[in-house]
Amino acid sequence: MNAADHNLNLEQAAQRIARSRYVVALVGAGLSVESGVPTFRGPGGLWTKLGEPTMNGYEDFLRDPAAWWNEQQSQQHNPDRAHFREAIERAKPNPGHFALADLEKMGILKMTITQNVDNLHAQAGQEKLAEIHGNRTKMRCITCERKWHRDHFEGESYPLTCPECGGLVKGDTVMFGEPIPRSVLETCFYHTELSDCMIAIGTSATVYPAASFPSLVQGNGGIFIEANPNPTPLSNSADLIVRGSTGETLPKLVDRIRALSQ
Ligand code: APR
Repeated sequence: MNAADHNLNLEQAAQRIARSRYVVALVGAGLSVESGVPTFRGPGGLWTKLGEPTMNGYEDFLRDPAAWWNEQQSQQHNPDRAHFREAIERAKPNPGHFALADLEKMGILKMTITQNVDNLHAQAGQEKLAEIHGNRTKMRCITCERKWHRDHFEGESYPLTCPECGGLVKGDTVMFGEPIPRSVLETCFYHTELSDCMIAIGTSATVYPAASFPSLVQGNGGIFIEANPNPTPLSNSADLIVRGSTGETLPKLVDRIRALSQ
């Protein structure tokens, strides 16, 4: 695809988004690449290095939460995990995050469904967020879904239990094999059903149910736009594709949408 095609796709995407009634973003790790946070898959990805986690981590937690917490503490020393953790702790929002915050403030972006746990959307000023895989700065009760800042239980002995309902408390980040918390899943489906335009930003579209949302929007007569430097399993079904790093493409896209909306 040459530069002219790129610009044409970006212009067409801006026009479709500006004309849409209910724009929803579906975000993945790619949006945070330009903040220095490695992705999970592809070159340099955390799972590329460590292998995809098994699906029984959550069962292990339920079986013996104290042992699970102790195992988590011991895993902290793994160099790849330590590198990922340090990168995410240092990370600041990049122009792609701020572009989404602008699009939300313009009243055009109605909801961002993010798979990212890095809290960078909130740091960039976004408020309309469904964190489908949780947020690494929070703790959650798996029974009543109450949340606290991750330091709230500091110094308490494992297993951690909810002061309100007695349920088990763990990091808010959703583990492989863990059901998506009902309240956030309902929010995701609610806004996906309302959407007539979904933009998939920096996601490999390989993890469900998040990867099913674009086809739900299209099934309701809406359009699906992919913003990603690389092809994904959903590329062939996308109505429009904006190729490129989203730290560059999203600010350009939002500038064009702003101009079209005046
Ligand atoms: N800008 C935008 N996208 C990028 C960039 C960039 N600069 N660089 C890479 N990408 C894209 C890749 O092409 C890829 O499609 O980011 C995507 C990263 O894919 P994954 O690492 O699979 O991340 P994600 O899609 O968020 O994974 C989904 O899997 O492991 C679970 O819970 C984890 O939420 C995560 C879920």
